[in-house]
Amino acid sequence: MSDLPKIPRHVAIIMDGNGRWANQRGLPRLRGHEEGAESVRAVIRACREVGVHYLTLYAFSVENWVRPRMEIRGLMRLLRKFLQEREHELHENRVRLRVIGRVHDLPLPVQHGLSRVTKATASYDSGQLILALSYGGRAELAHAVRAIARDVEAGRLAPDAIDERTIGAHLYAPDIPDPDLLIRTSGEMRLSNFLLWQIAYTELYVTNVLWPDFREPEFAKAMEAYSHRHRRFGDTKDRDTIPEVKHAGR
Ligand code: FPP
Repeated sequence: MSDLPKIPRHVAIIMDGNGRWANQRGLPRLRGHEEGAESVRAVIRACREVGVHYLTLYAFSVENWVRPRMEIRGLMRLLRKFLQEREHELHENRVRLRVIGRVHDLPLPVQHGLSRVTKATASYDSGQLILALSYGGRAELAHAVRAIARDVEAGRLAPDAIDERTIGAHLYAPDIPDPDLLIRTSGEMRLSNFLLWQIAYTELYVTNVLWPDFREPEFAKAMEAYSHRHRRFGDTKDRDTIPEVKHAGR
């Protein structure tokens, strides 16, 4: 466990820069993704060591489907390899694997691997690893709105009863608390359609380091930066959580 005064409960990461890392070395882009998978491993371990309970990784966006077929195939292969090689660590450390996104878009062998490991780890409570796959924040909100509309149509929900909690309850993983810290590597200052609803009050940390170079020392810097942040959630004094606001979202 860390001796920092404040550790985020939930860290979300936009893992960017694999392609640039490879280009800088005259290597194929897939080599960058392979090194990126090593960073995934390192960061999962680092989260465990400092006591971060939830780690959400943006591994493949809905927009990533336009990439060259070869790259997509390579990324899917890496995912399957990750599941095969890392499953035992999830069991050893009692970490639950979850997936958010349009899982049905993924190739069947990837879907089967994910389904097997998410089921096998479903009862674990020492930590959660959430993979965002074929994920888009807008797609997630559209999914939530469709589900809410169905409840209204069926007479289970009155339109006037819809508030922020209703929307939160229809997201892909409604029980997971909002991220406390969002890390983006490779220096780009954008959200890229990631967790749009959930990051309303999340602290942002952007580093120029490319994802394949983001290992324990870089993660430690992000933890250190977070420990000095003052979070007020709209209040005038520091708070740990969003205040309970009456009639939120009405
Ligand atoms: C962004 O870099 C990264 C991705 C689109 C894929 C992330 C995948 C991994 C880190 C490896 C596999 C994942 C797991 C969970 C095992 P980019 O390719 O957009 O980089 P660029 O902007 O420099 O081109």
